[in-house]
Amino acid sequence: MRLVIRKARLADAPALSRLLASTWRKAFHSLLKASTIREVSRKWHSSAHLAGQIRDKDVYFGVAARGKRILALTTVRRTGGKSAFMLRLYVRPGCQGAGLGEKLLEAGLEAFPRLRRLRLEVLAGNDRAIEFYRRHGFRRVGRKREPVAAECLDLAVMEKRRARAR
Ligand SMILES: CC(C)(COP(=O)(O)OP(=O)(O)OC[C@H]1O[C@@H](n2cnc3c(N)ncnc32)[C@H](O)[C@@H]1OP(=O)(O)O)[C@@H](O)C(=O)NCCC(=O)NCCS
Repeated sequence: MRLVIRKARLADAPALSRLLASTWRKAFHSLLKASTIREVSRKWHSSAHLAGQIRDKDVYFGVAARGKRILALTTVRRTGGKSAFMLRLYVRPGCQGAGLGEKLLEAGLEAFPRLRRLRLEVLAGNDRAIEFYRRHGFRRVGRKREPVAAECLDLAVMEKRRARAR
């Protein structure tokens, strides 16, 4: 079946919620406590929270899908006239390393043609993701600590700049 990159629909919210929770468990079990992962999913991966972002006109919520199966997602929020923040980019375990992350990153950039600056935060120990972002032109511009449940997340702040508004 053909791979489609499209905007998320409200009806996708429950499947996206499950995809995020399972991807977090798999990707971060060695970096974070199980209780922290559960709390993140409770707060930020609920269907209601995701539906709010899908409805939001300042958010690009993109998915990669084959038929009814969603394989990856990204969420990018406009933060200013020429700036945006990538809230998340996740590829289903088993589908990683096949170019879906790159395709969704490009779709997120295309959704904001006048964008000059795209920021994101990534767990400081998530070396493969940091390397992925570096390869796509992001540079580390700071560090942030964010308390969640019984832990304090150590986050690298990364930024990609586009020379000129298109
Ligand atoms: C990081 C991520 C979004 C990259 O998307 P992807 O579709 O796997 O990446 P692409 O196929 O476009 O690019 C492949 C490159 O990504 C990097 N990469 C990062 N994590 C990877 C993973 N788990 N598997 C394979 N490649 C990964 C590698 O540098 C790889 O290059 P290589 O094959 O030469 O080693 C995706 O792997 C993912 O969701 N990982 C788990 C969750 C995560 O860390 N998300 C980012 C949180 S901020």
